[in-house]
Amino acid sequence: VPSTSATTLLTPIVFSVGAEDWIEFGPAEARRRVGFHDYAAIYAVPGLYEAVFQDALEMRSHIEVVRLYGETLSSLGRPAGDERVFDLGAGNGAGGQELRALGVGGVVGLDLEPAARAAAQRDRPGVYDDFLVGDLGGFLAEELAALRARAFTTVLALAAIGVGHIPPAVLDRALGLLEPGGLFGFAVTPALLPGSEDAAGLASGYPAFFAELFGDRAEELARHAYVHRLQTDGTPHHAVALVGRLG
Ligand SMILES: C[S@@+](CC[C@H](N)C(=O)[O-])C[C@H]1O[C@@H](n2cnc3c(N)ncnc32)[C@H](O)[C@@H]1O
Repeated sequence: VPSTSATTLLTPIVFSVGAEDWIEFGPAEARRRVGFHDYAAIYAVPGLYEAVFQDALEMRSHIEVVRLYGETLSSLGRPAGDERVFDLGAGNGAGGQELRALGVGGVVGLDLEPAARAAAQRDRPGVYDDFLVGDLGGFLAEELAALRARAFTTVLALAAIGVGHIPPAVLDRALGLLEPGGLFGFAVTPALLPGSEDAAGLASGYPAFFAELFGDRAEELARHAYVHRLQTDGTPHHAVALVGRLG
């Protein structure tokens, strides 16, 4: 994890006003601006993701979902060391780090961005047994079979699903890597849950996907509502952590 001396070179951090468009950072003589969701640019700067999202905006999903997952493992009597976790949308490894602290036996990450893997290897070496780059939605049958052969016991998506991030079809593909009894967990904005009347939420397809998932194929084991992070205007971005088990 980047050192404090590295992260102090990133301040002051300033956000675009009115919408989450950009992030400006660095000392007066070397100010830089990156897109708010330009993960490639953000991961390329050591400590920037942590300084912006974890420190300034208090992002918590990697902590909350892994904590709920850990509690679920305990209540099921499943030793963490026996779990092989697929970390979907792994970013620069914040969730993988939490999973190792929990004591899980194996962690494989996947992210769309090559910069995510580079940053995870740079900042959290050894956390991932393997880190794949690509779009699971576009994996060929033999690539999916190779992933399946890794015999994951759990799929987690930490701060990575929803509008502008991982769509339902890709989460579904990841769940398809699991055998019956496999666990999954994710953080989701309430607008994506069944019963939502939010137009963007409904358009994402997630409310219908979750209704079908929890209606027919899986049981919900644990749920926890919390604040995912502050928005740049200081208001809370609410989220729900869910852990379930495939039937
Ligand atoms: C907000 S970051 C979260 C990263 C990390 N899980 C964490 O909790 O810090 C979201 C990540 O999801 C990745 N992502 C978005 N869509 C994706 C997709 N379809 N497949 C894989 N990764 C995706 C982005 O590249 C980004 O790294």
